[in-house]
Amino acid sequence: MARFMDKVVVITGAGSGIGRATAIAFAKEGAKVVCADKNKSVNETAQMIGKKGSTAIAQEMDASSESEVKALMELAISTYGKIDVVFANAGISGGLKPLMEQTAEDWQAILGVNLIGVAMAIKYAAPNMVENGGGAIICTASVAGLRSGAGGSAYSASKAGVINLVQTAAQQLCGSGVRVNAVCPGLIETGMTQFFYDKAREKGKIELIGQINPTRRGGEPEELANAVLFLASDDASYVNGHALVVDGGLSSSHPFNRQEFGKVAS
Ligand SMILES: NC(=O)c1ccc[n+]([C@@H]2O[C@H](COP(=O)([O-])OP(=O)(O)OC[C@H]3O[C@@H](n4cnc5c(N)ncnc54)[C@H](O)[C@@H]3O)[C@@H](O)[C@H]2O)c1
Repeated sequence: MARFMDKVVVITGAGSGIGRATAIAFAKEGAKVVCADKNKSVNETAQMIGKKGSTAIAQEMDASSESEVKALMELAISTYGKIDVVFANAGISGGLKPLMEQTAEDWQAILGVNLIGVAMAIKYAAPNMVENGGGAIICTASVAGLRSGAGGSAYSASKAGVINLVQTAAQQLCGSGVRVNAVCPGLIETGMTQFFYDKAREKGKIELIGQINPTRRGGEPEELANAVLFLASDDASYVNGHALVVDGGLSSSHPFNRQEFGKVAS
């Protein structure tokens, strides 16, 4: 299966985790991938793709900088002639500082990458897509953007912002053939969550990671990649302005005591 043969895909946050897994998945299906990240590990991602005989370039850049996002899109167009898909995925957690301790600078830093950077990716990629008659933009939100309990205040607000941003962007691009959607990952083992996984393993309690999840486990970056490729593909031709939750069912319920509700499954 090669759903993305000769498609040009730009991915931010491609140096690690979900971004890297998605870059590899797009390349496997024929895409030419422009991998971007502020970390030099992005060069390894492009090399990994190259070693498998697929096409990719790497660009070290800051996804929160308007001029660097603009330059990234220009690089994709000058190298491969067009942009078909953008995965605006770079993000930072900003730590778990309580709201009462977060400064305006903390908020600006988190919103700068997670929300404003995503808005800039849409702003500078969409015109080329419109010119070419269509494209797909996928932005990484989070279950933290749906309700409290999966990140700090600024992080959660930034991700709620991304969910809203894909709605307004989809509307503003109406009639252009460009679809804009979001993915909302649950807990996935990546650089961002490594600390929690390492701690759980250290204590011999890795099974606790999936304790409150109906799928009984955390997610893998490749499972997010599958969802992103779906949203980018023609299979999702009528999916637009949508936030697709990929969390094993974690956010599908209010908290409840499974013991008291009868053991349908334990
Ligand atoms: N891992 C999870 O459980 C989880 C859950 C929900 C949402 N997410 C979101 O998924 C996305 C990917 O994160 P991940 O889990 O793969 O973590 P990760 O830390 O493995 O990858 C994030 C990548 O983004 C890059 N990055 C950060 N700031 C950047 C900037 N200013 N410019 C360019 N690159 C930058 C990092 O260098 C890193 O390579 C993020 O938006 C994150 O908020 C992750």
